Amino acid sequence: MAAEPQPQLSEAQIAVHWREEDYYRPSAKFVAQANAGDPAIIERFGEEHFPECFREYADLLTWDTYWHTTLDTSRPPFWKWFVGGRLNACYNCVDRHLATSRNKAAFIWVPEPEDQDTRTITYQELYRRVNEFAALLRGFGGVDTGDRVTFHLPMVPELPVSMLACARLGVIHSEVFGGFSGTACGDRIADSGSRVLVTMDGYYRGGTLVDHKAKADEAVAAARKLGQEVDKVLVWRRHPGQYASKSPMVEGRDFFVDEILADYRGHSVEPVSMPAEAPLFLMYTSGTTGRPKGCQHSTGGYLAYVAGTSKYYQDIHPEDTYWCAADIGWITGHSYIVYGPLLLGTTSVLYEGVPTYPDAGRCWRIAERLGVNIFHTAPTTIRMLRKVGPHEPSNYDYHLKHMTTVGEPIEPEVWRWYHDEVGKGEAAVVDTWWMTETGGFLGSTLPALQPMKPGSCGPGVLGIYPVIYDEDDNVVEAGSGKAGNICIRNPWPGVLQTVWGQPDRFVDIYYRRYCKDQDSTDWRDWPFLCGDGAVQAADGYFRILGRIDDVINVAGHRLGTKELESATLTVAEVAEAAAVPVMDELRGRAVEMYVALNPGLAPGPEIEQKVAAAIEREIGKIARPRNVWIVPDMPKTRSGKIMRRVIAGISNFADVGDVTTLANPEIVDDIRHHVQSAK
Ligand code: PRX
Repeated sequence: MAAEPQPQLSEAQIAVHWREEDYYRPSAKFVAQANAGDPAIIERFGEEHFPECFREYADLLTWDTYWHTTLDTSRPPFWKWFVGGRLNACYNCVDRHLATSRNKAAFIWVPEPEDQDTRTITYQELYRRVNEFAALLRGFGGVDTGDRVTFHLPMVPELPVSMLACARLGVIHSEVFGGFSGTACGDRIADSGSRVLVTMDGYYRGGTLVDHKAKADEAVAAARKLGQEVDKVLVWRRHPGQYASKSPMVEGRDFFVDEILADYRGHSVEPVSMPAEAPLFLMYTSGTTGRPKGCQHSTGGYLAYVAGTSKYYQDIHPEDTYWCAADIGWITGHSYIVYGPLLLGTTSVLYEGVPTYPDAGRCWRIAERLGVNIFHTAPTTIRMLRKVGPHEPSNYDYHLKHMTTVGEPIEPEVWRWYHDEVGKGEAAVVDTWWMTETGGFLGSTLPALQPMKPGSCGPGVLGIYPVIYDEDDNVVEAGSGKAGNICIRNPWPGVLQTVWGQPDRFVDIYYRRYCKDQDSTDWRDWPFLCGDGAVQAADGYFRILGRIDDVINVAGHRLGTKELESATLTVAEVAEAAAVPVMDELRGRAVEMYVALNPGLAPGPEIEQKVAAAIEREIGKIARPRNVWIVPDMPKTRSGKIMRRVIAGISNFADVGDVTTLANPEIVDDIRHHVQSAK
């Protein structure tokens, strides 16, 4: 196997200058009620207590069999947590709350359009629905412990129901974000080897009922091309009894869940007691190479980690009304909409719609009506809400005690708006830095104990010991003002176990770069490469500068440049393609595609449209480029490598750096003239 290309810091990331921001402190009222209010917790998670400190997180779970070894490091970097322990994820999220909270809301679902009734799903109802669907999956779907099932579901209660049903059976779920295309879903079905696809006929987006089932047909066809047959497509109906899609149901393959469920009414399924190390789910994400990788998360370690971080960083109490306005199709939704909040037995809001539809007040109306007191979202959403309704929150009578941001760096002025306007100056804010691979937070502040600093996520979270290395493997000291590659020095329970089906790639991507001794079984020799550039201030707080690999973070979603380029190359006219990030006021970054055509072809808007359409078809609407530039040639090194740095410089009206080593330096001015005069 070819070695994974190793990421490099860009020049802009190495030289970083910024103003230190002032600290903000939470209110005495917040501190008095916080789950982590005693500074002794920081001591308890000190390095001298590693790995046993994580027992405190694991003790938040109910185990069928207690573990005998907290951390097994015998086969690095395939760490094993809570070895010997057995538990069931669904039992922990649902069954164990019935004794005290049977009729408490687990989820309050807020559907679109706004005039549709909000639906409360109690823990009892969740229990019933999960059991029936688990019985259906086993009996009708024919799946069993260890099998994989792919979901392509939007923000509807059927998604957590499906996840928990799989978890009850020890079946590994793999949810593909609903906005991804059928082809992208098919790739993930094939990679995970799923024979069952769970989807929905349609869902509401911005007031319209979107036809979603059509994507299932594309997904099945794309999976087949890659050698994977899907036996059954289980279709939930957005309005049971009515079919919202134009796509015909395929006889013998497609089934309406609401019809089949009639045979499973009242059925219950014993939760399967799984080893702590059994995989709970796969979550695909983009990386350096073209193929998305299936990050495999464990049952015991992952659940312990999300329970602990939800409790101490999100400050979730059972009596809170918590709203994470992310999509469950991303890791944030898995960890901090479904598993973390349910493990703590709280009430969560699930929102189907778009935050700014039908107007800038929608989120604040929901917060007011439902009494939301914890709100979690991404900087992109915050920027959007600020743009469309900067003073809108003050029109609504809601009070948040705590707010979170995740997914991208947040600009200090956006942070301040979030704190002052959305939080009305009353809420503690945590900026949580982490990624799909890490299961839960890596860097943040304990809201009652560590002050907030706009633009910085904070220090490593409890039990996480980050370090920044430069390109020559030296440690970059805090307060030096220099940036480097941020790594985590130690294993932690939430870290991915492997890349599904590709253990070598897993080692290569995350551990090869800074491994000190490949034969060592001492975890200290195996730092985990996060994939971000970062700087650490003298106070120990980290500021995250963005990805160092070929990933573009658009509105908090990771898009691989290779995936964008492969999609573009499906257009017959295109000979070469390069994807670059450009600054975007709302989404942080947007994508621009540069393409060179096959000889003899003339540029034109039809080709630009074909490229945009191909990207939408292969990946999804979220990846649609802001511009497609057709250029006579790409700037290339003498060895023929496309110099994306130069193209990105042109797109951003920035310095393109040294071009003397290019094989065709004259092309730079040509492209600059073409692009910059059109912008
Ligand atoms: O670059 C970092 C950025 O998002 C990347 C991870 O993306 P994904 O796997 O999709 O997970 C997103 C939700 C956890 C990181 O490598 N990122 C995430 N959180 C922050 C961030 N950048 C700055 N500040 C954050 N709080």
